[in-house]
Formats: sequence, C-alpha cells, structure tokens
Amino acid sequence: MKLLILGAPGAGKGTQAVRICERYAIPHISTGDMFRENISKGTPLGKLAKSYIDAGKLVPDEVTLGMVKDRLSRPDCENGFLLDGFPRTLAQADGLKELTALDCVLNVDVDEASLLSRITRRRVCPKCAGTYHVSTLAGDTCPACGEKLAQRADDTEETVKARLDVYNAQTKPLIAYYGEQVKTVDGNLPPEKVFEAIQAVLEAL
Ligand code: AP5
Repeated sequence: MKLLILGAPGAGKGTQAVRICERYAIPHISTGDMFRENISKGTPLGKLAKSYIDAGKLVPDEVTLGMVKDRLSRPDCENGFLLDGFPRTLAQADGLKELTALDCVLNVDVDEASLLSRITRRRVCPKCAGTYHVSTLAGDTCPACGEKLAQRADDTEETVKARLDVYNAQTKPLIAYYGEQVKTVDGNLPPEKVFEAIQAVLEAL
C-alpha cells in the first residue's frame, strides 16, 4: 500500500503513522524525522534544514524532493510506504506524481484550538523516538526506555503559530489537490479511536 497522511502540525500524523506502519508492515517516511536525524548528525543537509525548521518555515522544495526521491528508490519501498509530512506544497505533490502513484490519502482533521496545546506540551524521546503528551506522563523519563525526555526545538508557541500559518497557506490546499483520494478521519478522538477509523478506511480499499 502506498499511503500519504496529511494533517496540520500536531494533528497526530506521527502517532498514527507508527501504528499504521506496524499493522501493514510498510516503512514510515517522515521528512521531519529525516531532517531531525540530519540535524543531530550535523550533516550539510541538517545544517541547511535547521535554519528553516527553527523558524517554522518549510525547507526548500528542491532539497526536500531530492531527499524523498532517494528514500523512495530504496528496496524497502517496493511494496509500499507511508509518507508523513511530505508532500507539503503543490510543487512537492507534482514532484511526487512523477515518481509514483498513491493508493490512499489520509487526512487527520483536528480543531485548531487543540493543536497549540498538543504541540507545546509534546515531549519526545531522543533514544527510541517515542512521542508523548505531558498529561499522559508521570515524570520526565520515557515510559518505553527510561531515557530523559526532551522538547523539540520547533515546539515553542511562537514557532508553532508560524507552522500553522504555513500549513494553512501551503499544505491545506493539498486536500483539494488529491480530491476523491482523500479520506478524512476525526483526529480529535483518542489515538486508538483515530486508528480504528483509519483501519476501517484502509480495509475498505
Ligand atoms: P514535521 O516533523 O513533519 O512536523 P509537523 O507536520 O509540524 O507535525 P508534528 O510532528 O508537529 O505533528 P504530528 O501531526 O506528527 O503529531 P504527533 O503525532 O507528534 O516537520 C517539522 C518541520 O520540518 C517543518 O515545520 C518543516 O520546517 C520541515 N519539513 C518537514 N517536512 C517538510 C517538507 N515536506 N517540506 C519542507 N519542509 C519540511 O502528535 C502531537 C502531540 O499530540 C503529541 O504530544 C501526541 O502525544 C499528541 N496526540 C497525538 N494524537 C493525539 C490524539 N488523538 N489525542 C490527543 N493527543 C494526541
């Protein structure tokens, strides 16, 4: 299955992507995670991406497209994949169309008022990449591996507002671009209920 998951920053794309990829045994291709990995390794790509990400702006299309093209050419993508955070602009969507067709576009819809709280109160594990909301945590360590949890550098209130503006201006138009391929699920529900709705969509394909 070749899937794309759309949604505003904090909609729960990453949370659902982990479940979907485990259930359907496909690789999770998150451009945000790929950039963060490059930033933590100090690569030239990471140095370039950091200035855009920290300001809540998009990394230039040609850089992002090149990175995804390379990733999709690897053997583990032959039987499908889940794209998370890409495409994010119409130009990226056109670039993807040249590379491959999609079987389904999932859209996780969340009220904008909830997004700010979800992101500014998100904590991530630098070791196992677990993602949590502070309301579900008893302390400041990862429930899965015990590592001290951290906050993403772009999860400040100011940057989140910039990211939401960018989403509304540049990424939301992709819902119309993909038209009837888009299946929208209610992302305001608890994560397990959102996943049930996604599974129902995917089983019906
Ligand atoms: P990226 O990492 O893709 O960030 P994003 O799209 O802003 O999305 P997030 O990771 O913030 O949120 P999410 O929807 O995955 O939510 P999550 O599951 O974590 O991109 C970061 C940056 O990289 C961009 O700003 C840009 O600069 C750059 N970039 C990336 N791709 C690019 C591209 N294609 N082109 C150009 N630049 C690019 O959940 C959020 C929180 O809510 C968590 O705390 C979670 O525990 C909680 N939560 C999740 N689901 C629920 C639920 N159902 N109910 C209650 N809480 C929930």
